[in-house]
Amino acid sequence: RRVHREVSRFRLRYKFAIDQVATKIAILREEFEQTYDRSPIEHVRSRLKSPESLFAKADRRGCGTSLESIAEEVLDIAGVRVVCPFVSDIYWIRDMLTRQSDVTVLEVEDYVATPKSNGYRSLHLNIKVPVYLSDRTEHVPVELQIRTIAMDFWATVEHDIYYKYEATVPSSLLAELSHAAATAADLDTRMERLRDEVRGL
Ligand code: GTP
Ligand code: MG
Repeated sequence: RRVHREVSRFRLRYKFAIDQVATKIAILREEFEQTYDRSPIEHVRSRLKSPESLFAKADRRGCGTSLESIAEEVLDIAGVRVVCPFVSDIYWIRDMLTRQSDVTVLEVEDYVATPKSNGYRSLHLNIKVPVYLSDRTEHVPVELQIRTIAMDFWATVEHDIYYKYEATVPSSLLAELSHAAATAADLDTRMERLRDEVRGL
């Protein structure tokens, strides 16, 4: 029961960090909508890693079971995914968030500029945000994934396939997925070009 309570307390600060980031994103979105009459965000999803998958990951990483060492090693306990219409929106959100003085950037992985070999595209940011508790301030890591609707569509299907085949996906399917990723990237380029054309009218 004591361990259970400790884990709950530990996870709570990550929930607060998600709340902080969600508020930042909501403010940016509303302000953008006021100014430009469209939304740079299609939807936002967040998730708090379950204790099961938290300890499973800590185990894979071999970082022991103390909550302090897990906090050091596992940076995606709090996860926020932002899905945008256009590629330029991704970088706009990145810029607006990373220039805020209470946001610390720990790591950036730009799989939009450099897609993974399977075709996966997304911008990943590992950031830290302050969480103000009654007796102290904690700086809590949050993993942000920012991607377009097309990238999100692809990642969702790829994820399901990966699960269904338990990591042994037939090579024909891998080739199809890679092809679909290129199509999604092409769609992103076309849509942005269309948008720019209409805007220029
Ligand atoms: P960990 O995932 O924390 O071990 O760290 P990492 O930095 O090595 O991973 P990375 O930043 O590449 O990926 C983190 C998350 O991005 C994953 O948990 C997925 O949600 C997502 N992701 C990364 N690669 C893929 C992929 O190929 N397909 C899909 N569908 N999602 C991916
Ligand atoms: Mg990562």
